[in-house]
Amino acid sequence: MEVIILPTPAEVGRVAAAKIASVVAHKPSAVIGLATGSSPQGIYTDLHRRVTAGEISFTRTRGFALDEYVGIPLEHSESYASVIARDVVEPLGFDPSRVRVPDGRATDIEFAAEEYDAAIRAAGGIDVQILGIGANGHIGFNEPTSSFASRTRIKTLAPSTREANARFFDSPDQVPTHCLTQGLGTILEAEQLVLVAQSSTKAAAIAAAVEGPLSSFVPGSALQLHEHVTVIVDEAAAGLQLADHYRYTYVNKPEWQRFS
Ligand code: GLP
Repeated sequence: MEVIILPTPAEVGRVAAAKIASVVAHKPSAVIGLATGSSPQGIYTDLHRRVTAGEISFTRTRGFALDEYVGIPLEHSESYASVIARDVVEPLGFDPSRVRVPDGRATDIEFAAEEYDAAIRAAGGIDVQILGIGANGHIGFNEPTSSFASRTRIKTLAPSTREANARFFDSPDQVPTHCLTQGLGTILEAEQLVLVAQSSTKAAAIAAAVEGPLSSFVPGSALQLHEHVTVIVDEAAAGLQLADHYRYTYVNKPEWQRFS
């Protein structure tokens, strides 16, 4: 696992975007795993800058969202289908037909979940998965005690997650109670994982995921099982025992391994 500590949230977005851009530059038809929430916004902002500057194009790139609420209409401004369209597809110029979001409105939700995993496999798998992390250590919507082997499936949102996401809704009780999320097993099949976190509210979750024991109680610790993980955090989120080692490693990173 590579851990990169940067001074500001904007730098986190810029460096994580550089990582995504390097994948797409190498493979224009790459499959990107797309995350929602506040954490990846800086990535999308920097990628938009690169698109506008003509440095990169997403017209051939494919996308699979990490998760979706169950129980809100597709056209709701906070459905992840709406968020992905507004924050990713439109500004970055993805072909909408190449981007999928789990179908939280399916009448057969189990079938929709299985079909989503099958579609990811049929696309050749995810080349790079963007991730944020919840204050309770969740990735995607895999709440504490999610199995490391889990596949895309329906989950109940933890009360603390509903509370955290209430800021996107008119009132806390409007936050759905359920979601469809890629499982930890699904996420671990991506070729590369890039997790970003900013602010002190994420420091405990980052410390537990990166330096704590492997435990389904901290779903983010599943990252330790993956071969190619880049965790990019700002100083406020970096309450890490080996922080100095990560800084030293980054400064001394061989030129040929650098992506920004
Ligand atoms: C959300 C999402 C996750 C996200 C996490 C943190 O509810 N389902 O994908 O990483 O919780 O959210 P935020 O980035 O807004 O802090």
